[in-house]
Order: sequence, then structure tokens, then C-alpha cells
Amino acid sequence: MTSFIDGLPNDIIASLTISVEQLQALSVQFQVEIDRGLTGDRSSLKMLQTFAQQPRGDERGRVIVVDWGGTHGRVVMVDLQGSGKYAVLHQKDLKFTDAQKTSSAEIVFGIIAETIKQVIGKDQQRSYSLGFIYSFPARLKKINKAIALPMTKGWHLTGLQGKDIVELLTLALQKQGLTNVTVSAVANDTVAPMVLHTYCTKGQHPTAKPTEIGLILGTGTNQAVDLPSLGIYNMESGNFSGVISVHTRYDRQLDQELRDPPSGAQLFEKMVSGQYLGELVRRILYKLVLQKVLSWPVVEVLQTPFAFETSSLSRIAKDTSPALKDIELLLQEFGIQSTLTERRLVKEIAHTVVRRSARLVAASVTGTLRKIDPLWAEEHTIAVDGSLYGRYPGYNQMVQTTLAEIIGVDRAKRVQWVFVHNSTSAGAAVIAAVASREGFSE
Ligand code: BGC
Repeated sequence: MTSFIDGLPNDIIASLTISVEQLQALSVQFQVEIDRGLTGDRSSLKMLQTFAQQPRGDERGRVIVVDWGGTHGRVVMVDLQGSGKYAVLHQKDLKFTDAQKTSSAEIVFGIIAETIKQVIGKDQQRSYSLGFIYSFPARLKKINKAIALPMTKGWHLTGLQGKDIVELLTLALQKQGLTNVTVSAVANDTVAPMVLHTYCTKGQHPTAKPTEIGLILGTGTNQAVDLPSLGIYNMESGNFSGVISVHTRYDRQLDQELRDPPSGAQLFEKMVSGQYLGELVRRILYKLVLQKVLSWPVVEVLQTPFAFETSSLSRIAKDTSPALKDIELLLQEFGIQSTLTERRLVKEIAHTVVRRSARLVAASVTGTLRKIDPLWAEEHTIAVDGSLYGRYPGYNQMVQTTLAEIIGVDRAKRVQWVFVHNSTSAGAAVIAAVASREGFSE
């Protein structure tokens, strides 16, 4: 695609374009940070031990799952049926308002416990094991003790940081009279697609190799890795700070102006995940309007942080009509009349921002692959979940093509990417079932 307006837009596109050499350097730095994180040296990768274990594939039983880590969550009753099979029996959605995101742990855990009560219904005699997917950073002491670290994705609850989230949930359950529910396991959402994919493959082929990488690309982003002889770690890769070397002025401004997460935190996530991509595009378009490159009025969407949502970027990418009719409609919804040239520019900017995200993800995954297999001798599977990877047209292809650019086509062919849709519920059930079987080891 070519730029139709000379000057500034071309500079912006150029500054958002990361070369293969830069990606290679980032992947090396990512690997170095993994090692530093593991040895306790200063690192932007937290490398948090998960205490989760890979399943055998024959796990069975009914498990309650809480999936919380964003605006939308859910409480689910899952039936693990062995042989890698499972069924969702009941489900209730959790929806949080913007005000609740900055309220208190008591309020949010209260809402979660109430929803668990609704899912269990009248059956309050039977004992249930609960798997808690907590998609924020937490330092686990054992599989059912997790100390909350500062939150991400715009959440900030009082009474949470430094507390054991299992204790908080148990207390909230008690307040609802749910003494028949035991929180057996807490896990980060990245662990869910990894173990669920292992459960499904081992259920069918017991000798299959476990899935080694779990990747989430949605509102937030993060990776989990199963390190040979060390176990499964939550990397909190959204905090990788090596990307500062490829920051544009827009990244710098976004990082400095946000309160939660504070400046310097979640730098990788701020360039990669669904929470921020729409916002980056908004900032660029706003600047182009102020500089009169785009002759639009300064409408509310352009002036309001986070008003331009990442879902609009998918809509923009889907419009391949010659006149870019749907982009025209979208801009009209914002109160903007546009020319075709302007719409082409919007499409190009949106695509460039998302493409950069996909390329950075490929670089980070390269760092992880290099850590687990420095000689590139084996085949690897990456289990991915999340709306950005699943719904943005061609995102998966962009990640995979970039991986081939970084490590070469032959090596990239030995890396299998599997999209594990809706992995959290069943994944959490598997994690809890394994934990209940193995006991709550320290
Ligand atoms: C959180 C991670 C989580 C990721 C994806 C990040 O903001 O820090 O714990 O895995 O989002 O949900």
C-alpha cells in the first residue's frame, strides 16, 4: 500500500516499521531477560513460578472455574471427561464497569462470589473444586496461594496488592455461604491454552510432547513457558522493556501520560495488545488533524483517550471495498466526512500499528524458543488464545511470517501455532484437576 500524502504520514509509517535486524536484536535481549529473571537479577520479565503441572490427558471431574482479568469474565462449570474431552455445563458472564475497575477488591470478589452462587444453583451440598484464572501479575507461593502484584490493563483495586487472592476469594465465598467450594488452584491465563492443548493431545496420544508455550494476545498480552527441568513459568512478557529502543514519540507519550499502569511498566503490552492499539492510532490521527494533514474537525473521539477502540481496527482491516465504504461509515459515526485518500491513509496507519504488534510478538516468541531449544533441534507448539490473534484479519499470518523472517523458513516450519479458542474455562479446570490430584505442593 502506498501513502497518498507526502511528508509527515510517511515519517510516521517509517517510524512504526521495525526491521528484521531490530527484531533479531530484540529477541536476543528477550532471551537475556528470561535468564536474568530466572536467576533473580534485575529483569523486566518477572518469570513467576506457576506451580501448575502438565496434565496426563485422563483427568476427570466437575470443576468450577473463575475467569477474571478484564472487563469481561465468566464463571463456568466444566466437566472433564478424560481422553482429552470436556464439556461446559453452566456459564455466567461477569461484566465490570469502568468504576468497578478502580473500586475495591472486596466489591469485585463479592461480585465474583455472587456469580459463583448463581452457577452452582441449588446444588450447595456437593463439594466443588475451583480453578481461578487470574489474568494479572501474581507471585505464587504454591498452587493455591497467590500474592497480588500491581495490576495491569487499567485496573487498580484498593485492598488487593500484597494480598493472597485465594484468601480473598475464600472469604467472599464464605460470605455467600459457599463453604462447599474449595479454591484448588490459581493460574495466569497464559497457562490455560498451554495445559488445555496438552490435555487434548495427550488424551488422544498419551506419549505426545506437552505444549511448551502459552500465549495470550487480547486486551493484554503475556507468555507462559514450560522450561525443561524447571517447570511452567508466567513470564509477564507484557512488561518487557527492551522495546524502548523502537519507541516512537506516540509510544513515549502514551507511556508517560497513562496513570495505570505507570510510566515504564508494561512497555511491550503498551505497543502490542488490544488495550492500546486503538489508542495509538487515535493519537496518530489526532496529531495529523492538528497539523492539518487531515482536514477533519477535532471530534470527540479524536480528543478522548481510549475512545477509538481496537475493535474498530479490525473493522478497518476488513474493509477491502474499492471506495472503503465501511471506513467512511465508521468515520461518519465519529462525525467525520472523509475523502478516499484520507480513508486510505487511515487504513494504512491502522495496519502499520497492528503489523508492528504482530512483529514484536514474533520477536518475543523467538526469544522464548531460543531459550528452550538453543540449537533449534526440536519441534515446538505454541498454544494461543485472545481476541487480537483470533479476530484481527491476518494477525496470525503476520506473526508467523515474521517468525520465518527472523529464524528462517525451515526452522519456522517446525513451530506449530495452535489457536485454542476459549481456553480459559477448560484450561483452568485441567489445572485444578491436576492440582487436586497432586496435592497442594509448596
Ligand atoms: C497481565 C498478564 C496477563 C495478560 C493477558 C497482562 O496485562 O499482566 O498477567 O496474562 O495481561 O491477559
